[in-house]
Amino acid sequence: TKRAIIRGTGGYLPANLVTNQKLSETVDTSDEWIVQRTGIKQRYIAADDEVTSDLATAAAREALARANMSIDDIDIVIVATTTPDMTYPAAATIVQQKLGMHHGFAFDIQAVCSGFVYAIATADSHLKNGMGRRALVIGAETNSRILDWTDRATCVLFGDGAGAVVLELADENDRGILATSLRSDGHFWDKLYVDGGPSSTQTVGHVRMEGREVFKHAVGMISDVVYTALEQSGLTVDDLDWFVPHQANKRIIDGVGNKLGLAPDKVVVTVDTHANTSAASVPLALNTAVVDGRIKPGDLVMIEAMGGGFTWGASLIRW
Ligand code: ACO
Repeated sequence: TKRAIIRGTGGYLPANLVTNQKLSETVDTSDEWIVQRTGIKQRYIAADDEVTSDLATAAAREALARANMSIDDIDIVIVATTTPDMTYPAAATIVQQKLGMHHGFAFDIQAVCSGFVYAIATADSHLKNGMGRRALVIGAETNSRILDWTDRATCVLFGDGAGAVVLELADENDRGILATSLRSDGHFWDKLYVDGGPSSTQTVGHVRMEGREVFKHAVGMISDVVYTALEQSGLTVDDLDWFVPHQANKRIIDGVGNKLGLAPDKVVVTVDTHANTSAASVPLALNTAVVDGRIKPGDLVMIEAMGGGFTWGASLIRW
C-alpha cells in the first residue's frame, strides 16, 4: 500500500531566549510557580522584524535538506498556524514565495494547537488522492504577538517557533501514516480563544483562556483519539515505540501518559525548553527526537494534540 512517509524533519526557534526568571522581572510570577504547574522553564520570542512565515521558512529549509530534496520536489505546502503574517493571503503562500516556489499549491490550516495534526491528515488525504507526490507540512507560530503580557495566567505558557516535515507517497514496508483521528466541538470555543478578528472587531486580539476548563477536558479528549487511531490500525498502546504529544503542559502530558499506561521513557517532552508553541509543538518535538536518535525508521510513533475550538486529533505513523 502506498502511504505518506516522513522523509525529513526540521525546526526553528528564534534567538531570543526568555527564562522564567527573566519573565518574572516584568510579570508577577516566579520560576517555581511556572515549573510546578506546567513544567515550562523557558521560551523563545521572535525578533520584532521576524514574522511567522520567516520561522516557517527556516524550519522548511531544514526539513528539505534532511530529506535531500529541494523545493522543486514539493507539490503541496501546508502551514498550520493561528498567527499568520496577515489576515490574508495564507502564510503558506508567503512561504512559497520565500522558498522560490512557483509551481504547486499552498494554503493554511487553522486548528490552533491541533493544527499540525489536522495538516498532516490533510496532506495525507491529498497525496493519497493523487493531488501530488510530496508535501511540505509546517507548524509555525508567533504566539508572543497575541499574548496579553499583563495576564500572568496565560502569558507565561506560550512561546514562538516552527517545525516542519516532508511527506512523500511511496510503498515501503508499510511505512508512513497509518491512521488519523480528528475531532472538534465548537461548543467549547469560549474556553480558549483570541478576542479579536477581521469580521468582529477589526483587531488582532489576545489569548483568553479558562485554564482549568482546558485541563479538565484535555486528558479524556486526547485519549479518545489516540485509542481510535490505534483501533483503526489494529494496534495497541503496547505496540507504540514513541508518543509525541502536543507540548502545552507537562501535567497534561503526564495525565495522558498515565491514562494510556505508557512508560514515561517512550514519551517525548520538550515543553520545558520552548513552552507551548501551539501548531509548532508537535513537529518541533518530532524533530528533536529524530535528531537525537530516538525515533528511527520502522518505529511506531503516535502524535496527538488538543487546542482551541476545542479541536483535537491523533495520528499513528510507522516511521
Ligand atoms: N504566576 C504566579 N501565580 C499565578 C500565575 C503565574 N503565572 N498564574 C496564575 N496564578 C495564580 C492565580 O492568580 C491564582 O491565585 P489565587 O489563588 O490567589 O486566585 C492561583 O495562581 C491559581 O490559579 P489557577 O488558574 O487556578 O491555577 P491552576 O492550578 O489551574 O494552573 C494553569 C493554571 C497552569 C493554566 C492550569 O490551569 C493549566 O495547566 N491548564 C491547562 C491550560 C493549558 O495548558 N493551555 C494551553 C493552551 S491549550 C492547549 O494547548 C491544550
